[in-house]
Amino acid sequence: MFIIGVLASGKGSNLQAIINHINSGFLNVKIGVVISDNPDAYALKIARDWHIPSEYIEPGKYKTFLEKNQEKKYVECLKKHGVELVCLAGFMRVIKKEFFNAYRGKIINIHPSLLPSFRGLQAWKQALDYGVRFTGCTVHFVEEEIDTGPIILQAVVPVLDDDTPKSLHQRIQEKEHIIYPLAIKLISENKIFIKGRRVIINEN
Ligand code: GAR
Repeated sequence: MFIIGVLASGKGSNLQAIINHINSGFLNVKIGVVISDNPDAYALKIARDWHIPSEYIEPGKYKTFLEKNQEKKYVECLKKHGVELVCLAGFMRVIKKEFFNAYRGKIINIHPSLLPSFRGLQAWKQALDYGVRFTGCTVHFVEEEIDTGPIILQAVVPVLDDDTPKSLHQRIQEKEHIIYPLAIKLISENKIFIKGRRVIINEN
């Protein structure tokens, strides 16, 4: 069985979507462990409710990334649980060297915009403020530079005239909950190949 690890800092709706797709039989993977940098993350409660191993691992003294020794602990924990693919699901810290040494090419992320537009935080609000007519979400491989890795899947969401940041983010999340499990399925079934910056999906 293909084993994934999920890293989440917040409410965990993407984690819940992955669990739902496992329960429905769409995804034939096991979540080896859920790790959070936030002891109060609802994602940890979701994991406990579903009897999935879960751990809060202290991030250390920095705000935007993990302290080196702490990052080592994240990697050790993922390895201990046999994780083959690391799925960032609202994990609000930049991944650094220890992760890339252990899991290069095996870390994916869901981002709430059509990359390369609106990298960084609150991408739905950036899109609304900019005035684009369409935004969406992107599943991509993670590289050192934030929100830049090869793109696996994207989904488009129209921006409505009466949208607020909250309503737009909600509709983007509905699409996230579809494309993130699908991307994990394609990787777990070995149907994805990287050619330069392009990701080729081989359905056969
Ligand atoms: C999602 O919208 C995800 O795209 C975003 O955080 C949210 C987490 O939601 N991630 C980023 O902004 C990463 N740069 P969730 O906790 O309900 O899964």
